[in-house]
Amino acid sequence: MSTERDQQFLQIQGLAKTYPGATEPVFDEVNFGIARGEFVCIIGHSGCGKTTILNVLAGLEEASAGTVIMDNREVSGPSLERGVVFQSHALMPWLTVRQNVAFAVKSKWPDWSPTQVKGHVEKYVDMVGLSHAIDKKPSQLSGGMKQRVGIARAFAIEPKMLLLDEPFGALDALTRGTIQEELLKICAATHQTVFMITHDVDEAILLADKILLMSNGPVARVAEVVRNTLPRDRQRATLHHEPGFYELRNHLVDFLVSRSKELSRGRAPANPPEVRPADAARSAVAAAALAAGPAANGAASVTHLHRVA
Ligand SMILES: Nc1ncnc2c1ncn2[C@@H]1O[C@H](COP(=O)(O)OP(=O)(O)OP(=O)(O)O)[C@@H](O)[C@H]1O
Ligand SMILES: [Mg+2]
Repeated sequence: MSTERDQQFLQIQGLAKTYPGATEPVFDEVNFGIARGEFVCIIGHSGCGKTTILNVLAGLEEASAGTVIMDNREVSGPSLERGVVFQSHALMPWLTVRQNVAFAVKSKWPDWSPTQVKGHVEKYVDMVGLSHAIDKKPSQLSGGMKQRVGIARAFAIEPKMLLLDEPFGALDALTRGTIQEELLKICAATHQTVFMITHDVDEAILLADKILLMSNGPVARVAEVVRNTLPRDRQRATLHHEPGFYELRNHLVDFLVSRSKELSRGRAPANPPEVRPADAARSAVAAAALAAGPAANGAASVTHLHRVA
């Protein structure tokens, strides 16, 4: 059973950042929470401060104001409890793929035998489809392959919290799809808590339980929390057939096109409201199917809606 504490696995309160020499904060009054096992995406225009927030959560950057509490402890510096995939891959160029991942694994579990480390590293390198390149150095890999090594490294330390900064940005559509689905599977199996930055609304709808919409900077804020109420077992290939998909998608795109600008410069509320744009359409489809009776074609999807509600 979930407790109050589980609901508040990660708590961000009053976060603000002003870089030295700047007259205005990049963002202020950023407030949100992440439940244990929740997959949260953050979307916002370039420069609004998404990477800065992620770096604060990682303990790599100090906020100018506010607090980050993870699992009842204040975040104050980097830790192997949090695995980070950076916007640029950040691999050690003199080490091979195997050695890059093993370095992180050995830091997390210094007592492991070489055989244990080897098995663990190979499992995660295989997960991102790079077994054939495991003994190559980053300079011998494509951009997308380097990014996949970064993903394998972050997963390999099995962190309490995964922090992903546009991890699939450099990947081709096919690889991106495969890794997105792999990520969903692993998260479902491990109940991994994830905070991920993306520019891709379809990616956010596929992966996230909750999507944070960030207004434009300077003085950006998390303006709204969008709850994704499409079934958790959604698939990339059929997602767009789900009732409510387009309502949810349009809501996100409308925010990026107009509201993110209207709510810039501190005009967004400090405590963002939570909205559920897919709900009305999903209820309407469920009601129509019920009215049509159990023999109707929609009966299966009604059962499905009830199960996920
Ligand atoms: N070290 C720094 N010193 C000064 N200003 C910085 C520094 N890092 C970032 N900024 C500024 O802070 C703002 C937010 O940067 P950040 O990288 O967090 O944005 P972002 O939302 O991740 O953007 P993108 O989507 O392009 O990655 C930008 O205006 C950027 O110029
Ligand atoms: Mg960024």
